[in-house]
Amino acid sequence: MLDILKQNKKSWDKVASHFNGKDALPSYGPYTQTEDELSLFDDITSKKVLDIGCGSGHSLLYMKEMGASELWGVDLSETQIETAKETLKGLNANLSCSPMEEDIGLPKDYFDIVYSIYAIGWTTDLSSTLRLIHSYLKTGGSIIFSWDHPLYPHMKSEDGQIYLDGSYQQEGITTYPNFKGEDAPVVIPKRKLSTYINEVIKAGFTIESVIESNVSAAFDSVKEEVSDRYYSLYKARKFPTTMVIKARK
Ligand SMILES: C[S@@+](CC[C@H](N)C(=O)[O-])C[C@H]1O[C@@H](n2cnc3c(N)ncnc32)[C@H](O)[C@@H]1O
Repeated sequence: MLDILKQNKKSWDKVASHFNGKDALPSYGPYTQTEDELSLFDDITSKKVLDIGCGSGHSLLYMKEMGASELWGVDLSETQIETAKETLKGLNANLSCSPMEEDIGLPKDYFDIVYSIYAIGWTTDLSSTLRLIHSYLKTGGSIIFSWDHPLYPHMKSEDGQIYLDGSYQQEGITTYPNFKGEDAPVVIPKRKLSTYINEVIKAGFTIESVIESNVSAAFDSVKEEVSDRYYSLYKARKFPTTMVIKARK
């Protein structure tokens, strides 16, 4: 686990610039309906919020614009945290460079909202991460997270023909040697949709919503072209790119 975290940290530090402002609220993910369309968050006004895998800090900036009173964020990458500091300059955000798997003494029973946009799937230990998140939340507080729909990485396209690659049944890890086309190997855990749902329940939450994304209305007038890219409108119109789960303590 430690080796995976060390490797992923190194690679995230290297590719961070590709992600400045990407996959940030109100977006939940590529081609996915936005928060404006899904309205999953409770009223954010005067709420204490914690972002797990806060990246460049743009989702926290959105939270500030929506009236959050306290902004907290955790991210594995030093470079991402430095960028987030820049994004949130003057806003008094509490940012920690740390793996989400680790208890670094963040306040317990404190947050109204904990969320994670396209980051939670990186955890090497989903159950302890969710248990930690549960401990950070006040009773009645909510968690919302988005990640690749677990079937999505298996859906490959070749000349527009979509087929299942590998086994959805088999959980484990996948190593990608060239993240974002760089010499930056990353290891990403592979889990089934039911694993995410069951781990959320086991951590003590009550699930309120499970979304298998559809294409955002922003793409209604965009002509669909056959594309074999990992993320494409062509694929997104056929099956969900993203899952979003909302649960309450
Ligand atoms: C796609 S980015 C997230 C974007 C961000 N949530 C936003 O709203 O702008 C994924 C982030 O997860 C972070 N990450 C990867 N593994 C992590 C871990 N084990 N613990 C904490 N953060 C991690 C990466 O450093 C990266 O910043």
